[in-house]
Amino acid sequence: MSHTDTPSTPPAPGYFSRHIFFCLNERPNGQPCCAQHAVQAAFERCKVQVKALGLSGPGQVRVNKAGCLDRCAAGPVAVVYPEGTWYTYVDESDIDEIVTSHLQNGKVVERLLVPPDVGH
Ligand code: FES
Repeated sequence: MSHTDTPSTPPAPGYFSRHIFFCLNERPNGQPCCAQHAVQAAFERCKVQVKALGLSGPGQVRVNKAGCLDRCAAGPVAVVYPEGTWYTYVDESDIDEIVTSHLQNGKVVERLLVPPDVGH
């Protein structure tokens, strides 16, 4: 769908009902960072799965790249809003579970949550 098409689903009050941001940042000098993991592949997988399930577009889900989200030690990280749910992940099956459980059905994937005390 182009930006000029009429959306089939009415936009949510925030335009998108959920937003997921993937940190793709690389820090210098070998410091812990998300780019030390397969973050680009995870981001692409999420976009593909969201689209395949018909979840993308106004009123639904938006998948975005992000710079450093300042939780580098927990990397790779992705955060879902409006809930503010922080995830880490290892492989495509983790991404698929975040998509189907949380982005599609609103159910947090407890096993992939970033511990609250892991930060920079
Ligand atoms: S490099 Fe990903 S949170 Fe900082």
